[in-house]
Amino acid sequence: MPHRWDDFAAVRRDQIESGKDLTFSKVFLPYYMDLAKELHPKSLIEVGCGTGHLSIALSNHVNKTIAIEPSKGMHIIAEKVVEGSGVKLFPLRVENYKSEHPFDLIISHMVLQLVDDLESFIASVAELMGNQSRFVFAIPHPCFYNEYKKFFGPSEYHYMVETTKTVSFTVTKDPNTIISGVPYCHRPLSRYFFVLKKFGLYVVDFEEIFPEPEIQSLYGMAWDFPRYCVFHAQRGKDRLILNKSEQLL
Ligand SMILES: C[S@@+](CC[C@H](N)C(=O)[O-])C[C@H]1O[C@@H](n2cnc3c(N)ncnc32)[C@H](O)[C@@H]1O
Repeated sequence: MPHRWDDFAAVRRDQIESGKDLTFSKVFLPYYMDLAKELHPKSLIEVGCGTGHLSIALSNHVNKTIAIEPSKGMHIIAEKVVEGSGVKLFPLRVENYKSEHPFDLIISHMVLQLVDDLESFIASVAELMGNQSRFVFAIPHPCFYNEYKKFFGPSEYHYMVETTKTVSFTVTKDPNTIISGVPYCHRPLSRYFFVLKKFGLYVVDFEEIFPEPEIQSLYGMAWDFPRYCVFHAQRGKDRLILNKSEQLL
């Protein structure tokens, strides 16, 4: 359902470039920059790059940066954002992107909570990985996000049940701009661990994002709990790696 993002590309560009999206500029941009400095990847692919801003920032620390984005609207904006940079952009879903060489680092920021077929998505990512590759993805924290955003009413929400809904939301510093009609899928944490393992990936790090008080204060209200979490996955040395077609049999 990437087309559902088409109409919000210009809004997202404005929110990111103006700094209104605090979570992007104050929380995750520093997080991924630190990660790139720590891991020194030679090659990076960002899956679901949206407007391309994160790819651009990271590309300064990497020899080769690929960004893929299937939403037409997002891709049009991303083309402008990455113009003149070293980032190579493709208008593709990860399921349709093929590479002869594995990537050292695969990042997917705020994407997995909206993909309709998690297995196919993660199977495709696994095919882009070698033994030393790291797959890092951030999602809204499944344990706490509904308490924060109230996407699901009490009768709709059962933590252990995977449930998809079309939702609307705003960002704290741009409360009058509503991003609406986009998919959101609640899945229990165990579902992510299970699917990663199914495709030969295991979690080497799991972080719950809870910024320092001075960053929280920018939001005008303290965070009661971690709103986001980040998985770091790598290939398991002894695990059987099944490819997508084998899984679908
Ligand atoms: C919430 S947006 C996040 C965009 C960007 N990463 C950011 O944080 O600003 C999710 C993006 O994932 C993309 N997407 C959805 N399904 C995808 C898939 N199968 N492969 C690659 N990208 C996908 C959508 O088109 C959308 O732009």
